Amino acid sequence: MLRHLYTVLLLALPLANAHALGGQNMVLGRMVPARGDAPSVATTTHARAHYVLHCAGCHGFDGSGAQAGQVPDMRRLGQFLRVPGGREFIVSVPGVMGSGLSDEQIAEVTNWMLGGMARSSVPEGTPPYTAAEVTRARSRTLLDVAAARRQLVLEARARGLAID
Ligand code: HEC
Repeated sequence: MLRHLYTVLLLALPLANAHALGGQNMVLGRMVPARGDAPSVATTTHARAHYVLHCAGCHGFDGSGAQAGQVPDMRRLGQFLRVPGGREFIVSVPGVMGSGLSDEQIAEVTNWMLGGMARSSVPEGTPPYTAAEVTRARSRTLLDVAAARRQLVLEARARGLAID
């Protein structure tokens, strides 16, 4: 009799558990059926998270870049805003254009960088980037990024500004 009760309990326990967890799964909780069109990465809306996911791999978490890989130091980014064409340049580089981020997300990440790691280099009163501004920059492909950058660096130097 006791053995019988034990068997009944053993059978009933997982069922009760399954019921408590929504009747879907007995181990990890409610199971969500996989969707064929589910995104492959968790989506996020935070600019810092976008930076970490899409930019930090090359630019470093603090924006210091990598001399060996010729990845520039982001902390000087604001200097570009003092040179004609520089404002458009920094949202036109391949790392930005090819990131897969929307125009709005690029504006947000750029504003986040300018307000954080690059803050000390940003001229007073600089207006934030808008999605529309990024859309305009995107419509004009930057064909030779190295040449465009060299030109801006020369102009910056002529103004007595430091960009490496
Ligand atoms: C694969 C490496 C890589 C990734 C990823 C990358 N960048 Fe870059 N980035 C570079 C390099 C290299 C340069 C120098 C210009 C060039 O050669 O494109 C650069 C230049 C820049 C510049 C201009 C600064 C300067 O001094 O020339 C900005 C702004 C910038 N990146 C932003 C971003 C943002 C924002 C992201 C993420 C959305 C990003 N980058 C992702 C490698 C990368």
